[in-house]
Amino acid sequence: MARILTGIQSTGKKPHLGNLLGAIQPAIELSLESGHEAFFFIANLHSITAIKNGAELKENTLAAAAAWLAFGLNTEKNTFYRQSDIPEVCELMWYLNCFTPIPMLENAHSYKDKSENLSKDKINTGLFTYPVLMAADILLYDAEIIPVGKDQKQHLEITRDIANAVNHKFGKEIFVLPTAKIKEEVMTVPGTDGRKMSKSYNNYIDIFQSDKDLKKNINQIITDSTPLEDSKDADSCTVFKIYSLLATQTQTAELKAKYKAGNYGFGHAKSELLALIIDKYSAERAKYEEFIKNPELIELELKKGAEKARKIASQTLARIRVELGV
Ligand code: ADP
Ligand code: TRP
Repeated sequence: MARILTGIQSTGKKPHLGNLLGAIQPAIELSLESGHEAFFFIANLHSITAIKNGAELKENTLAAAAAWLAFGLNTEKNTFYRQSDIPEVCELMWYLNCFTPIPMLENAHSYKDKSENLSKDKINTGLFTYPVLMAADILLYDAEIIPVGKDQKQHLEITRDIANAVNHKFGKEIFVLPTAKIKEEVMTVPGTDGRKMSKSYNNYIDIFQSDKDLKKNINQIITDSTPLEDSKDADSCTVFKIYSLLATQTQTAELKAKYKAGNYGFGHAKSELLALIIDKYSAERAKYEEFIKNPELIELELKKGAEKARKIASQTLARIRVELGV
């Protein structure tokens, strides 16, 4: 049985609609495909490269976990945990550091992009060694398939290089070589300003808020000034684009016809989008609320996942410790 593994950073306040449709839902679907054992974790240690506020990191981590659980991740069949609950990962990272040549990290985009714009005294070493922690995340569990976005491809190559270096040094397979499963951006969810939805553009739709706030959020979607009575082009409208990503084909065709017919305003379309989100995600939104109001339920799930993960982690660590004499 192939083991799949992926990490999700907790830098944002809450997963937005783009994260849900582009990352969380597809990962859960992949975990449902028979023959895969999935490891999903919240990469909160990676997020410390950016966030140095305990309350904020904790809140973000719980919100991310609540979203995964609300979207139906099966925590019996899969292993769902918080990176920082696995101390073994930091120990393995140290060993891997000792096999990682400096230029390999100097060439990593995550560091290189920063170092081109900032002087080195403004860049923390955590950002520099970020790919080694990621390698430890993967190698610790003998994971074979790593679903990631294109931006993470180089990190997977670094992981393979480090694993190869260790295996070569000891002349045996200490680590399994992982393969990246690159998510070609099948779908990009547009944000309220029409650009790609992203927390960095502050143009996101947060489905996990009250109906009233969600309504305000949807009303922020920018539309053009075609008069109410005129026929409208649905395909160039952000409201329609988001609607069509969520609706059935019939619903989408119906909305398109209304745009075309005229006497149908963008305000009407926004109301339909709101109604669709409330209807489609009623179970997920209720579950999310329940988890956020009872964080001990989230903790329980994460503890369960950490126990499962640590069992495997300690076996992998034992393999490399023997070779290193520690
Ligand atoms: P953000 O752009 O908000 O910072 P991240 O870069 O943290 O989001 O992305 C986390 C995951 O969500 C990635 O797998 C990414 O591909 C996916 N994702 C983010 N925004 C979108 C979007 N607008 N459409 C589709 N997928 C997205
Ligand atoms: N660096 C990844 C990102 O920003 C998150 C991550 C951390 C990860 N550890 C991982 C992804 C291990 C896959 C496997 O998206």
